[in-house]
Amino acid sequence: MVSRSVLLVVFSLLSQSIEAFHNLYPIDIGLSEEDPFMPNEREVFDDCHMRYMRYGKDELEVADSLEPYDEPRDYSHIAAIGRRETGDTIEWTCIGTLIWDSVVITSAHCTTDKGLNGAPSVVRLGGPKYVQQRNVKEVIRHPEFSPSDGQHDIALLQLDRKVAINETVVPTCLWLWDDVPFDKLDYIVRIAASKEQQLAEYATVDMTKLNVKGEECLSPTTSQKGIPDSQLCVKPVELDQNGCKDSPEGNPLQMRLLHNFKTSPFLVGIRSSSFTSDSCNPRRSFTKIGPYRDWLMQVLLERNVSVTPDNLFPINCARRFASLRPRADELITERNGEVPINSIQVESVHERELKYIVQFEWPSEVENMARLLCAGTFVDQQTVLTLAECVVPSTPRGVQPIAVVHRTRFRNVSHPIKSITVHPGYVEGSQRNNIAVVKLQSNQEVVPACIWTHDALPDSRVDLTGAGMNFLNNYQELFFDETEFGNNLVQPAMDYYPWENCSTELDHLSGNRSLEGLNKNEHLCFRSDQWIVPGVCKDVHGAPILRYINRAGAYFKYVYALTIAGQTCGYGQPTVAMKLAPHAAWLRSVILPNPSSSGRVSSESVIVINPDLKRSDECSNGDGTMGICVPYELCLSTKERLRKGERVTLCTDGSVVCCPWGDIARNSGTNPVRIELDSCEDRYRSIRLQRYSDQSEDESQYTNLPHVAEIGWPQNNGRIEFDCMGFLITPALVLTTARCLETYPHKPTVARIGSVQAADPSNVVLRTIRRVRLHEDYDPQTGENNIAIVVLTAPIEINAHHFPGCLFRNNTHLPTRQFAISEDEQRTFFEKVSPLYRTECEERWTETLAPGQMCLLKAQPESVFRVSNKCLNMGDVIVWENRTQDDIFDVVYLVGLFSHGGCGLNNIQIGTRISFYYDWITTNGK
Ligand SMILES: *[C@@H]1O[C@H](CO)[C@@H](O)[C@H](O)[C@H]1NC(C)=O
Ligand SMILES: *[C@@H]1O[C@H](CO)[C@@H](O)[C@H](O)[C@H]1NC(C)=O
Ligand SMILES: *[C@@H]1O[C@H](CO)[C@@H](O)[C@H](O)[C@H]1NC(C)=O
Ligand SMILES: *[C@@H]1O[C@H](CO)[C@@H](O)[C@H](O)[C@H]1NC(C)=O
Ligand SMILES: *[C@@H]1O[C@H](CO)[C@@H](O)[C@H](O)[C@H]1NC(C)=O
Ligand SMILES: *[C@@H]1O[C@H](CO)[C@@H](O)[C@H](O)[C@H]1NC(C)=O
Ligand SMILES: *[C@@H]1O[C@H](CO)[C@@H](O)[C@H](O)[C@H]1NC(C)=O
Repeated sequence: MVSRSVLLVVFSLLSQSIEAFHNLYPIDIGLSEEDPFMPNEREVFDDCHMRYMRYGKDELEVADSLEPYDEPRDYSHIAAIGRRETGDTIEWTCIGTLIWDSVVITSAHCTTDKGLNGAPSVVRLGGPKYVQQRNVKEVIRHPEFSPSDGQHDIALLQLDRKVAINETVVPTCLWLWDDVPFDKLDYIVRIAASKEQQLAEYATVDMTKLNVKGEECLSPTTSQKGIPDSQLCVKPVELDQNGCKDSPEGNPLQMRLLHNFKTSPFLVGIRSSSFTSDSCNPRRSFTKIGPYRDWLMQVLLERNVSVTPDNLFPINCARRFASLRPRADELITERNGEVPINSIQVESVHERELKYIVQFEWPSEVENMARLLCAGTFVDQQTVLTLAECVVPSTPRGVQPIAVVHRTRFRNVSHPIKSITVHPGYVEGSQRNNIAVVKLQSNQEVVPACIWTHDALPDSRVDLTGAGMNFLNNYQELFFDETEFGNNLVQPAMDYYPWENCSTELDHLSGNRSLEGLNKNEHLCFRSDQWIVPGVCKDVHGAPILRYINRAGAYFKYVYALTIAGQTCGYGQPTVAMKLAPHAAWLRSVILPNPSSSGRVSSESVIVINPDLKRSDECSNGDGTMGICVPYELCLSTKERLRKGERVTLCTDGSVVCCPWGDIARNSGTNPVRIELDSCEDRYRSIRLQRYSDQSEDESQYTNLPHVAEIGWPQNNGRIEFDCMGFLITPALVLTTARCLETYPHKPTVARIGSVQAADPSNVVLRTIRRVRLHEDYDPQTGENNIAIVVLTAPIEINAHHFPGCLFRNNTHLPTRQFAISEDEQRTFFEKVSPLYRTECEERWTETLAPGQMCLLKAQPESVFRVSNKCLNMGDVIVWENRTQDDIFDVVYLVGLFSHGGCGLNNIQIGTRISFYYDWITTNGK
């Protein structure tokens, strides 16, 4: 009935909503086909995907492929510098870099006329399609330039007119710091053949930084001192023969830094004249930009160029030209759906989707004390994980945080803390066992992250959580002038970095923090070769490192580790994190103490299942009464015992019970209804096969739901109103709720089967009703035992349009993927509903769940902005489809009937649990 194709339609109907999903595309690790059953009470630690199934996202957007740019953007800041020869030809002798709309930077060496034909006179930018050419108005060489030893080899060319800044011509940004932390840099060369061509072509060579004082960097002109600190010494990563021919011509040495899912070139140095190419020397020296920032600015101001020091500041430069830079396609396409396109969206991701990441609120007396920016992560709706160092008492008086708080621009939502459990092996100052569990006073409506308890990571790419400037963390296609410079949690993608490589790089990331105790078993590193513009992301201690994983057909975030140290969220330098897996046993002991004995004495606990017992075995009910295992309907006292809360032993499953000797009913014989129900799967297999093949031929004839019945009452006007839904369980029996059958004071007279969603009314069957049987203990007040059997006057004809579905008979577990079938204004809809543990249900519902009731919540997939919410109607059938891979319609099981519950998304939905009434059904359906 609920065929896969129908479900897909259903899913798309379920979520007509704006969605943002900024994380990496979820991974499938072979668990997507799981169809787990959830026990009535929590038994295992790794149950997150069942317990929070209702939040699982079951729909993904595949991003459209990105439109290629008209013109490449990688060299939009590179200028060809030429000298006009006699007769209007231009010889392109050097390259420079555009730093402002009328200023190009190059080496001083390039501006002298030694061996060249006069000073540079013309500059060409852009291309290949849109080329802009300007004349040089003034050459400004560094006053202390020394051609002999290459000191201060830097010069500016002021152009006669501004260039038009657009996608093909954009100034570079400048690395203004003296310190150059990058080990690998990009060196831009002209492709040799292009020297005389009117259109320059450029290429990038990867370079490695060398120690300027090292032997390799000694130059003939600087004797034994190496080169000065104002220069850089580099060599190509891969040496090649052509390197010998390469001569200095003002080439930029740059680093492309990431921001806004794009990269901007940052000019680090300019090829200077040292190490001249008299011998084939692969090492090259560069004049660093950083030490010349003041000279540069002074020149620009003197020339009345409309630029301020502020404009050149890296963050401002990155931001100003963000819309014109080349995007990092792979960083966009590896995400599911949209990335935020402006600061407001970054803010809203933080506000709506990162609610599960919180900070800590301290009592006001310690609020002023300097402390690390720390985060915690919800791992269930009442538990937050963080680092021990984030919550240990901050003063000798032992003050600890009082609440967790999710801070957004508009409000701070705080939740009081009940208890803090620090790992007993934690010692302040060490990174060992640096973990703590924070229990809140009450459950919060937050979609928690699941704990990844396995040692291996399922994928090497992760979402790392840090804090960054809003305006550097969106994907701008157009320039937005945003004045709010907010800082928010952001989740860049990062790569796993082997401990062997990482452990040698840890010194420079410690800041003032102790890195004592870092070790391979407990800690993990993440890093990428890409560097970022400072301000894009800073590590937040305790923040989660995670990935969405497909489990049971929905996507759940799994947190692998918590950040403990790092500066750049792994960009360029490693971020170190504390793995959760080694602490899984401790976490389990704190979060799920004594799983077996934690259940209160509930009505449930009076039922004991003994799988070792079979029919006719001798048995005990545990209170001294001895008996024998017999089918439920043969035992006269079981129902009474259950009602009184006395212990009942089930032999194997719910259909065979331990019955005291005197209570066994004689001469009951075999029950034909039970035989029929027990063989349901096989009995209708051929019909399901046939429906499948018929549907493949003519889909339009098989849109209906073949097991769903409608129950009708005659009206005064002679018409029949079908006001209740039911489920056909044998050719002559329909199940529905007792409450629904009381819709009218008189009894219903007719049932219609196969009509829901039917395209052709001739495929529908109508039968008159012989009798209806409400459960004798149905309580209209509490809704307990809300079940009824409708017996038809004669069995219906069974065919591919209408035939019985099966009953779900497991009374200890419920499927996690259930659908309620309902109608609203003549339209049928499927509402995904998920079960709750009984204890958790009763906490929310504040009433006791009867054994014959099940507790559900409607799905509200994470990050779906507006979940379409429809009310269920009493009697609506709740089904589970046993998915198999065969070319056959899967067996559909009736799990429950909707009994009652509010309409809201967070309202508990109470269903009549069919498995509990299996014996009542077989006894009363006869
Ligand atoms: C860039 O500017 C130049 C000069 O104004 C113009 O010819 C060209 O069309 C522009 N290109 C784009 C892509 O806007
Ligand atoms: C810059 O502007 C000032 C004042 O407007 C003017 O006196 C000066 O000559 C200008 N300098 C140049 C190099 O244009
Ligand atoms: C949230 O808390 C922070 C720190 O206590 C405070 O500076 C900020 O003003 C608060 N924001 C709002 C909207 O209340
Ligand atoms: C780690 O180091 C080894 C040996 O130096 C090197 O081969 C490997 O590429 C490095 N791995 C990464 C991810 O950098
Ligand atoms: C380290 O501590 C000193 C003194 O408390 C402080 O000035 C400095 O900024 C800190 N460094 C870092 C990287 O946090
Ligand atoms: C109920 O389902 C659970 C989980 O699949 C299974 O372990 C258990 O044996 C089932 N019980 C019965 C009576 O079939
Ligand atoms: C689901 O179908 C499979 C294959 O037919 C069967 O083995 C399995 O027992 C069924 N599961 C339940 C819970 O009925």
